[in-house]
Amino acid sequence: MCGIIGVTGDTAALETIFDGLRRLEYRGYDSAGVALVDGGAIWRERAADGTHSVEDLAVAVAAAPRSATGIGHTRWATHGAPSVQNAHPHVDCTGRVALVHNGIIENHAELAAPLLARGHVLSSETDTEVLAHLLEEELARGAGLAEAMRSTLGQLRGAFSVVALTSEDPTLIVAARRAVPLLAALGEARGFVASDVSALLGRADRYFALDDDQVVEVRPGSLRVTTLAGDEVDPTVVGVDPSWDVVAAQKGGFDDFMSKEIHEQPRAIADTLLDRRANDGSIVLDELHLSPDELRAVDKVVVVACGSSFHAGMVAKYAIERWARLPTEVEIASELRYREPVLHERTLVVGVSQSGETLDTLEALREARRSGARTLVVSNVVHSTMAREADGIVYTRAGPEVSVASTKCHVAQIVALEVLALALAQWRGTMGPSALASTLDELHRLPAAVGEALGRAKEVEDVVDVLVGARDYFFLGRNLGYPVALEGALKLKEISYLRAEGYPAGELKHGPLALVEPGTVVVAVLDPLRDKMRSNVAEAAARGATVVVLTTDDDTDPPGDHVLRVPAVRDPVLAPVVEVVPLQLLAYGLARRLGNDVDRPRNLAKTVTVE
Ligand code: G6P
Repeated sequence: MCGIIGVTGDTAALETIFDGLRRLEYRGYDSAGVALVDGGAIWRERAADGTHSVEDLAVAVAAAPRSATGIGHTRWATHGAPSVQNAHPHVDCTGRVALVHNGIIENHAELAAPLLARGHVLSSETDTEVLAHLLEEELARGAGLAEAMRSTLGQLRGAFSVVALTSEDPTLIVAARRAVPLLAALGEARGFVASDVSALLGRADRYFALDDDQVVEVRPGSLRVTTLAGDEVDPTVVGVDPSWDVVAAQKGGFDDFMSKEIHEQPRAIADTLLDRRANDGSIVLDELHLSPDELRAVDKVVVVACGSSFHAGMVAKYAIERWARLPTEVEIASELRYREPVLHERTLVVGVSQSGETLDTLEALREARRSGARTLVVSNVVHSTMAREADGIVYTRAGPEVSVASTKCHVAQIVALEVLALALAQWRGTMGPSALASTLDELHRLPAAVGEALGRAKEVEDVVDVLVGARDYFFLGRNLGYPVALEGALKLKEISYLRAEGYPAGELKHGPLALVEPGTVVVAVLDPLRDKMRSNVAEAAARGATVVVLTTDDDTDPPGDHVLRVPAVRDPVLAPVVEVVPLQLLAYGLARRLGNDVDRPRNLAKTVTVE
């Protein structure tokens, strides 16, 4: 997936585009490009230099013409290698149309064949370029750009957001979307479109969401939205979360976004817990939009998510089963979609997604709704597509997370899901008021415990010193320690590029133990089944592994070569929020020592809007 931005009526268009691209780099950064309307022609520049693409492009555009209308793109390659030739914007044969695209046009090969037969020359390997040539044909027939876009979109299969401009109409940008996020926005005598709100913070003052298959014509200070049939519709106005200001989207004195976001975790947890308790001590979830009766009727919960959000969902299973006594399944979103799951009106499907845009999770939720299930989303982004479509929402309030590897959103998700589990327990009567109150109190103690865990960064650094050079890691845990192990392994592989597997410790002897030898590092999350874990640690140590154990302050005799401690949390269901912190710091420390760009790891992107 990619980040896209379009600007019109902006005397500093190029500066606005670059500012936006820098804030959209979390979506991909294999290459970057910009196109401006310059008198009667289109001026274009592109760069492909991995994580430095946007900065290289900024140097390359030194000779750009002055223009008030332009589009920019930062790419995460799907079709075609990350190269200048494949970088967006793509242009048609005449050079009159330029466009940027995020998503996948699934039938691009089908569309390319007749274009080639009609003499078009395609100069990239992307799925995107066909669209420029299709628009070219429509314009040649006398259509305006918006009309050309409407008739072209009808031919496309797949998921996309696209922004185009033409030298024929220099103040116009035209954009459209299907299943991929895109916002339009207006500022004083200026118009914008972008993949997300962070790209436009400080510039636009009114934001509009587009529905699937809507086309927006943006001109300086005004916009018009139409359906594919050409019928004009009122644009949906969206509010912007006030905490998402420009300062929140900057590094604020930290070396990188990842360390800033790791250190913002106590605040993210505290904000996510704000206003969840009514005066009478009961739990309130304001944005839930599902009545207690609707939730009482639920007889099964299915949590769907990807990546770190999936690991938060795994913790939720323990919370919901233990507190609300509801059978709970957790499934990788891309697996649920194609498996004919048994879902019905008494199933609550909970999508967990920081961005609220991850395509697999979005489509799994849509599938659930088609089956008649109730859907609920735990998201960090107000008005994200999932939040708009779901029956109910619980927001995490972590503020913008820029680093690709999720940290503060992951812990905020666990906390939000645990509040949801308590609310279910309250409405189902499976927990009495005093048990609810004391668990909620315990949740409110988490920011301090996480703060204390962060204060022990030096202990983690000492372990990093010893481990630097190791290449193979196993992260082991049981029960609630298992999702922590999985998340620790995921953090390490994402940013350090080291081989790191998360495993349920009991399974070690059923295969992975064959791989353990001197030089292998085993990171063992001891709680909550400490004694069982001791045996697994012994099995690994006996094969020569270097063992790092993660345990709590009250553990008087931990095994292992190195010990990382966190403050003890009374309720084991809450412990993963604290235990994950040293593992984030470990991954961060090792990745930095290896000289990696921790915010923008190779091959990855923050928001994955492709299948
Ligand atoms: C990407 C990100 C991960 C994230 C996952 C799910 O892979 O790099 O950090 O956990 O997507 O994203 P979501 O926005 O749905 O939580």
